[in-house]
Amino acid sequence: MKGVILAGGLGTRLYPLTKVTNKHLLPVYDRPMIYYPIQTLVEAGVDDVLLVTGGNKAGDFLQLLGNGKEHGLKRLSYTYQQGEGGIADALALAEDFADGGPIVVMLGDNVIEKSIAGPVARFREQGRGARILLKEVPDPQRFGVPTLKGSQVVRIDEKPAQPASPYAVTGIYMYDATVFDIIRTLTPSQRGELEITDVNNAYIARGELTWEVLDGWWTDAGTFESLHLASNLVAAMRLAAAPH
Ligand code: DAU
Repeated sequence: MKGVILAGGLGTRLYPLTKVTNKHLLPVYDRPMIYYPIQTLVEAGVDDVLLVTGGNKAGDFLQLLGNGKEHGLKRLSYTYQQGEGGIADALALAEDFADGGPIVVMLGDNVIEKSIAGPVARFREQGRGARILLKEVPDPQRFGVPTLKGSQVVRIDEKPAQPASPYAVTGIYMYDATVFDIIRTLTPSQRGELEITDVNNAYIARGELTWEVLDGWWTDAGTFESLHLASNLVAAMRLAAAPH
């Protein structure tokens, strides 16, 4: 399966850190942020990846990542999102790359502890529709939040004031090729973006969205607090893995 990493946007929540560079080039402990989603995809056997970038210093990704071979990628392709039209707007740029096949999408500011090889294999078996990964968090109001009825996700709300569950929809999504038809039907949200939550709600309406809970810790790194947390989590993980 092919992979898409979304690393566009302007990273305004991290201003002034993002005044002269791209959010995804900032350090998370000992590596640039963008290394983490690449590593997550490669470890899951996804080695043909499109990187969607945008905003400041997009050319620096090429200098940093080159053709991706050093990171275990068979092929690394690049494209550029003009402006900050939202996650689904960035994903729309991957249609030709996907070429009618299923894709694993990961947000460039998501950092996780463990492997997604299991969920990717289960999506392959699923064969169609979409699969999302949920994680219990102390602050669900910062994220997309699912409403669960029994074992079904019946709705997702983007950053609700009153979260219906303690879960965040993580920034790892698996979609069949109809995702691009869904994106074409979207209209911008109140924050002026094409929302990935609206894409997921469209799959729910079709009865084609499955989910599972992500194994291990998960965080985004798009705010000062979460960037700091991500560095601390990675530091602790490296320390635990180091020979004593
Ligand atoms: O991290 C998970 C959360 O990510 C989900 O729970 C939310 O449902 C989802 O909307 C998203 O929330 P954020 O508001 O935190 O997304 P943010 O605007 O920070 O963008 C996350 C990444 O998506 C960013 O690092 C790069 C990519 N992106 C974002 C925008 C707005 C793009 O590639 N292009 C864009 O225009």
